[in-house]
Amino acid sequence: MLERAAAELDTATWRRVLSEAAALGVLQVHFSGGEPLARRDLAELVGHAAEAGLYGNLITSGIGLDAARMAALAAAGIEHVQLSLQDADPAMGDRVAGLAGAQAQKQRAARLVREAGFPLTVNAVVHRQNLERLGDIVELALTLGADRLEIAHVQYYGWALRNRAALLPSRGQLDAATALVEAARARLKGVLAIDYVVPDYYARRPKACMGGWGRRFLNVTPAGKVLPCHAAETLPGLRFPSVSAASLAQIWYEDPAFAQFRDTHWMAEPCRSCERREIDWGGCRCQAFALTGDAARTDPACALAPDHALLELARDQAVETNSDFAYRRFTISGAPAAEPGA
Ligand code: SF4
Ligand code: FES
Repeated sequence: MLERAAAELDTATWRRVLSEAAALGVLQVHFSGGEPLARRDLAELVGHAAEAGLYGNLITSGIGLDAARMAALAAAGIEHVQLSLQDADPAMGDRVAGLAGAQAQKQRAARLVREAGFPLTVNAVVHRQNLERLGDIVELALTLGADRLEIAHVQYYGWALRNRAALLPSRGQLDAATALVEAARARLKGVLAIDYVVPDYYARRPKACMGGWGRRFLNVTPAGKVLPCHAAETLPGLRFPSVSAASLAQIWYEDPAFAQFRDTHWMAEPCRSCERREIDWGGCRCQAFALTGDAARTDPACALAPDHALLELARDQAVETNSDFAYRRFTISGAPAAEPGA
């Protein structure tokens, strides 16, 4: 859910939260969004995080990054920048970003990051509508001077799930993409590192989402709600705490929502007696809920899951369907719908 800017935490509260994170033992902070560059105090927060000993990573669309802001972020101590890229084709990039000129702004942002001497990771989300240009995406990342390219297939939660028939690749498309990535990795060894995340829908075992619920990761929303994962608010029946009411340490160690799916006590069969239960932690709770209506069920991405047939059905539909995708119209409570941003 989007929040009004007026509902966002103020600078002083963010500084306290960053200090609490460092005291809790957090090592890295990812300034993400929405779009973190929309915060005028971003450089101040980056500076505070750096002083607290946190490794600062900026995850951005690149929209709004100019030379002055890059210089301010560099002076504040940002360590690394991740830039999102929707396509190699400028028209498609603008279309998916929902903003004319977005692709050009991203390229300008990449140049600023590299000129400032910072490592750059390009994040490219791929799906059936841009997979045919995966080779061009690799070339574009090289042209932009990226050190690392993260190619991640869409994960089907929230809005992506609504668009699944338009986005999920067929097995043939996925195999071709995987072969292309393997060839590029070999060709670009030492030049461009490539991470590759395949869709759960073609896996036989799920990923350990977030490294396990409430085990390695916490997400503080712009309004200060603390979540175990970015999609946790889709789960009914869980109330997530706010940094306004408790410290990060209290939340991490004592909050019932963080304990709900931590470790293995909540698991039913087949996870409960499975030898992988402390490896993948039963997969993704949000995916389990989205597909089965029960967040405590085994992630259907697992071939051992009673609901695995749901994914097989979606895979079959991916071969048969050729629908366009539907855009989200953001709504903020009490306000009319707004167009998407980059
Ligand atoms: Fe993981 Fe559960 Fe599948 Fe075992 S049954 S591999 S623990 S999701
Ligand atoms: Fe919420 Fe995976 S996204 S547990």
